[in-house]
Amino acid sequence: MCGIVGYIGNQDTKEILIKGLEKLEYRGYDSAGIAVVNENGVHVFKEKGRIADLRKIVNEDVPAQTGIGHTRWATHGVPSTVNAHPHQSSTTRLTLVHNGVIENYELLKREYLQGVELQSDTDTEVIVQLVELFIKDGLNVEEAFRKTLKLLKGSYAIALLDAENSDTIYVAKNKSPLLVGLGEGFNVVASDAMAMLQVTNQFVELMDKEIVIVKQNEVTIQTLDGEAINREPFTAELDASDIEKGTYPHYMLKEIDEQPLVIRKIVQKYQSEQGHLTIDEDIIDAMNDADRIYIIAAGTSYHAGLVGKQFIEKLAKIPVEVHISSEFGYNMPLLSEKPLFIFISQSGETADSRAVLVQIKKMGYKALTITNVPGSTLSREADHTLLLHAGPEIAVASTKAYTAQLAVLAILAEVTGKRRGYEPSFDLVKELGIVANAMEVLCDEKEELEGIARDFLTVTRNCFFIGRGIDFYVGLEGALKLKEISYIQAEGFAGGELKHGTIALIEEGTPVIALATQESVNLSIRGNVKEVVARGAYPCIISMKGLEMDGDSFVIPEVNDLLTPLISVIPLQLISYYAALHRDCDVDKPRNLAKSVTVE
Ligand code: M6R
Repeated sequence: MCGIVGYIGNQDTKEILIKGLEKLEYRGYDSAGIAVVNENGVHVFKEKGRIADLRKIVNEDVPAQTGIGHTRWATHGVPSTVNAHPHQSSTTRLTLVHNGVIENYELLKREYLQGVELQSDTDTEVIVQLVELFIKDGLNVEEAFRKTLKLLKGSYAIALLDAENSDTIYVAKNKSPLLVGLGEGFNVVASDAMAMLQVTNQFVELMDKEIVIVKQNEVTIQTLDGEAINREPFTAELDASDIEKGTYPHYMLKEIDEQPLVIRKIVQKYQSEQGHLTIDEDIIDAMNDADRIYIIAAGTSYHAGLVGKQFIEKLAKIPVEVHISSEFGYNMPLLSEKPLFIFISQSGETADSRAVLVQIKKMGYKALTITNVPGSTLSREADHTLLLHAGPEIAVASTKAYTAQLAVLAILAEVTGKRRGYEPSFDLVKELGIVANAMEVLCDEKEELEGIARDFLTVTRNCFFIGRGIDFYVGLEGALKLKEISYIQAEGFAGGELKHGTIALIEEGTPVIALATQESVNLSIRGNVKEVVARGAYPCIISMKGLEMDGDSFVIPEVNDLLTPLISVIPLQLISYYAALHRDCDVDKPRNLAKSVTVE
């Protein structure tokens, strides 16, 4: 959450910063700001709202070679211009942007800053005021910055400017992601490589508790105690076109449409020359050695984990538990003797999941991360990584990452199962090909799904999703999708559970979306639909070819039973998309949310 950029070089600093922030807007978008420094001092421009609002107030007549920028997702203090970053010290000598949460900021304020009048409600301002305080005590900027960092508890990615030294950006990180990008005659700083692909694809990863002095032609990385660190840059393998919307009105729609391609790419990436699905032997050893697998994830990735449990238990016959990451650390179950932890995370940066990873690593357990972002924190810190190969997912609502997670989990389950002597009753490569084709068919049926969204969801205040077995898990994901982008209160329930309480909420016209893709529960879920219809509900049944009945609202193509979640979710994604559109919601940047949740 929150995005940081920095630039030092001879090009158009303000434009590079603003363009970078536009690419990072998915990380938070309640306010934004930039600061540039030149021989006349520091110039700060900040505004509540989107980057587009910031762009309007930036004074084009301020030339500068060095600058930093920030797009905010509020934690401490309401979204406002005052609370927007950058923040300045009392004398305005120092200017700073920060991503993360300083847990002990109240304490630091009391202990060190009694005499300082703070301008904002943020935890961030404490950092910049502390650096200034220590400079007043006689330290130079670098020493004061180090001393401050040693006092901070919590997470941070920081970029700091000194008005008296315009050829340096001081950078530090702990828990929150931050990269330094290298160029010919310039260097940059960014929360995500995407932001600076406009100028470079060469990046250096920063590790926790490192401090970096970034100059136009030099980057020095050190530990907080001043020990020098050498680290080779890596090439960000991103295509600039991957992060553009192209002709699509929204990233979400583009990403929904990319799903068939992603599934085909995953099959290709995980296929051996002989055509078999294959996964790194070390990972399969780790799976095989485990007596129980613990899947840890949040949001959509948690929903993918619920389906993944079915894949692993059915194909590899290893028991699996699925846990919400924000709960696991505080409410840890009794662990088995030989657990293996699987972290599922599109971004690879989710702070709740990372906290569990740190905890279980301390306990000596092994971890596998399934992520879309190579080099992300969860990938670096786990023992093993499996990549989703879905390409950048920019819309806040996760779509292609979910189906990619399911495909990779299915492959992992199948390869593990084969190693354990369980031959699947189907050819997964072929079945995933059928899934990709079915996805294409569904993506061509947008008009029909838009009609369903209009009929069911234009005026309602709530909506229920029901399903049984694997359909229940897809219903949870459908409900999350709908609520996060259309603001309709939506909940997913196991079909049989409604009558134990929730059915009291059914009124005349309440939309109930039921999934019927599983033969074994087809009749019982339809029985549950009858129960809600008898109480006035407006049903929308999404069934699978071969199981359809008169009156079903939408029929998805037939695919392998176990793999239905990969395609039954697509009508739900599209219905949510059109519901949000018809309700005039900001589809790609829903209120109060951010794509990458880097605070606990
Ligand atoms: O990057 P992650 O997969 O770890 O993110 C987890 C959730 O924050 C994420 O899936 C969230 O629920 C999405 N906005 C759902 O569309």
